[in-house]
Amino acid sequence: MNADVHAAWWRRLGADVPLINAPMGGVAGGKLAAAVSQAGALGTLGMGSSGSFEALTRELARYREAGGDGRFGIGLVDWGIAQDPSMLDLALDARPMLLSVSFGDFSAEAPAPEWIARANHLGIATVTQVANAAEAEQAVLNGIDAVIARGLESGGHGAPEHERDALLTSVLETVAGRVPVLAAGAISTRDDLAEVVRLGAAGGWVGTAFTACPESLTNDQSRATLLAAGEGDTHVTREFDIALGLPWPKRFPERVIRESPVNAGMGIGALTEVRTAKAVVDSFRL
Ligand SMILES: Cc1cc2nc3c(=O)[nH]c(=O)nc-3n(C[C@H](O)[C@H](O)[C@H](O)COP(=O)(O)O)c2cc1C
Repeated sequence: MNADVHAAWWRRLGADVPLINAPMGGVAGGKLAAAVSQAGALGTLGMGSSGSFEALTRELARYREAGGDGRFGIGLVDWGIAQDPSMLDLALDARPMLLSVSFGDFSAEAPAPEWIARANHLGIATVTQVANAAEAEQAVLNGIDAVIARGLESGGHGAPEHERDALLTSVLETVAGRVPVLAAGAISTRDDLAEVVRLGAAGGWVGTAFTACPESLTNDQSRATLLAAGEGDTHVTREFDIALGLPWPKRFPERVIRESPVNAGMGIGALTEVRTAKAVVDSFRL
């Protein structure tokens, strides 16, 4: 896909750094979203396992209190909006620039999810994370505006099927210039971002690098766990979801820091100090 299409994507989102802070339940609240967008990337509000209408209402208010100017995204989880459809209504009413719904069914037999058409109708850009090229194809056929190729290095929930760069390459081949493709998974530094852009990504979808920011919802204990963890200290498990009785499909385990429920990706070794969202965004400027 040519550079003009990528530039148009980032112009649409008003970002001058080609990076979206991934929606992270319990981490990416209104304050972080405002700070990331003010720094020149695109921030999002993440509603994960404990997302709710009330939690989204609260984080939207915090976003406005933090001086958010309307340039933000919202990220929901498919089973969350199936349980509480009012969360999707609220997200659409808030008129984000971007709506992400993760962990839905993009198999060829599945019907097109209604959130894509509803968001498109309002001019809200739509994205979803995919774990393989077939899902990317189906998401494009269903009208998605961009796909996120989520490599197995990524923190949090997802289907750990392929390493980031191999997945990115196969998704790029499959969607063949029809929509921008962003890469996710262990994008920790400017060099990592430059590498996925060199491979053909429009930019990065970055979670772990922002988890210790003072603007995040991360508590002090989790922040200490994140800063202490080194490369190789994460693994993929379903144990916490099962223990909590959460309805996560089997396909989507979560990557956590070993011996803890703290979500983080394989790039965690690069997270060694607390930096503001602005400092993190600036560290990614190409
Ligand atoms: C703490 C944390 C929470 C996450 N929560 C969500 C979520 O609620 N919804 C979602 O779509 N993805 C969630 N993710 C996954 C991200 O969207 C993304 O796939 C991942 O952060 C990318 O890899 P990285 O963490 O190596 O940058 C989460 C990731 C982390 C690290």
